[in-house]
Amino acid sequence: METLKITTIQHSKLKSVDFNNLGFGKTFSDHMLICDYKNGNWGAPEIVPFQPISLMPSSKIFHYGQSIFEGMKAYKDKDLNTWLFRPNENFKRLNKSAKRLAIPEVPEPVFFNGLKALLKLDNVWIPTKEGSSLYIRPIIFATGEGFHASPADAYRFLIATAPSGPYFSGKVKVLIEEKYSRSANGGVGFAKAGGNYAAQFYPTQLAIDKGYNQVIWTDDNTHEYIEEAGAMNIFIRINDTLITGPTSDRILDGVTRKSIIDIAKSEGIKVEVRKFTVSELIEASNNGSLKEMFGTGTAAVISPIAVYGYKDTDYALPKLEKTFASRLKERITSIQTNKSEDPFNWRFKVN
Ligand code: COI
Repeated sequence: METLKITTIQHSKLKSVDFNNLGFGKTFSDHMLICDYKNGNWGAPEIVPFQPISLMPSSKIFHYGQSIFEGMKAYKDKDLNTWLFRPNENFKRLNKSAKRLAIPEVPEPVFFNGLKALLKLDNVWIPTKEGSSLYIRPIIFATGEGFHASPADAYRFLIATAPSGPYFSGKVKVLIEEKYSRSANGGVGFAKAGGNYAAQFYPTQLAIDKGYNQVIWTDDNTHEYIEEAGAMNIFIRINDTLITGPTSDRILDGVTRKSIIDIAKSEGIKVEVRKFTVSELIEASNNGSLKEMFGTGTAAVISPIAVYGYKDTDYALPKLEKTFASRLKERITSIQTNKSEDPFNWRFKVN
């Protein structure tokens, strides 16, 4: 990789940020990484101040939505070392999404050297407060121009970061979706395409209007199989067994999802990766075997569900004193923040 050019900001915004009240993804660090693709090649990556981007209205991102992203986090431990969690999984998934959206794949050195240099430069932006982290947003979007419905000939890879607190506060109330779908066989549900998320906003708003926080996505064909929870993977605990759907064209291969499966197994919890139906869920609610439901994702980590709604009936989850959700969240976050051993070798030290 060519040398990384760095242009630093004149006046840091750091002092204006209240690290005790960050919210999620609302405040952005001083710098960003950019790297442009044109004439069939990725150019030299550069770090520049976080600033607006100038694009022609004819750029294909605006017309055909060629845009993908990743979600990662950087953590500080008590000695102020910086850690990433399974970053290679995000790198591989970014390029998997790229391929599906006909976007050129980003070379590994551009991604990793760029990310490490950015984290080094904006190191003071990584929060130290428990439950906070630096949320990292790698994106690739089409900058090439034209109204022809075909892949662009130019792209930008960009990494922006945002010191962030928790994504959700408290338990959520969800509605099982019976009409709309987030993905279909042969589609892009497995990819982190911006459009996947845009397409969720309208059905989610309808659920919010009915008093729920988010939607439980079911399969597009029958709406009988439970697939994802909002922008997260979903886990269901029946008695002492955790169940989550298999990844597919329609279900995102979540890094938190697969880590939770491994951690749960290592804790002696029985895990089944299999299809799970709405009918099974209702039956489990009725016979008392449904103990917990929770979403998993990088942003939210583990988000417990308090109530789910289906066909005008609300089903409350039992209020347990000790939950798998809190136990597994504790385990994954202690690995991420270097508070415990990492038997899986997932942690990646940055500095
Ligand atoms: C993440 O969990 O990091 C995601 O990418 C989901 C996003 C909608 C916040």
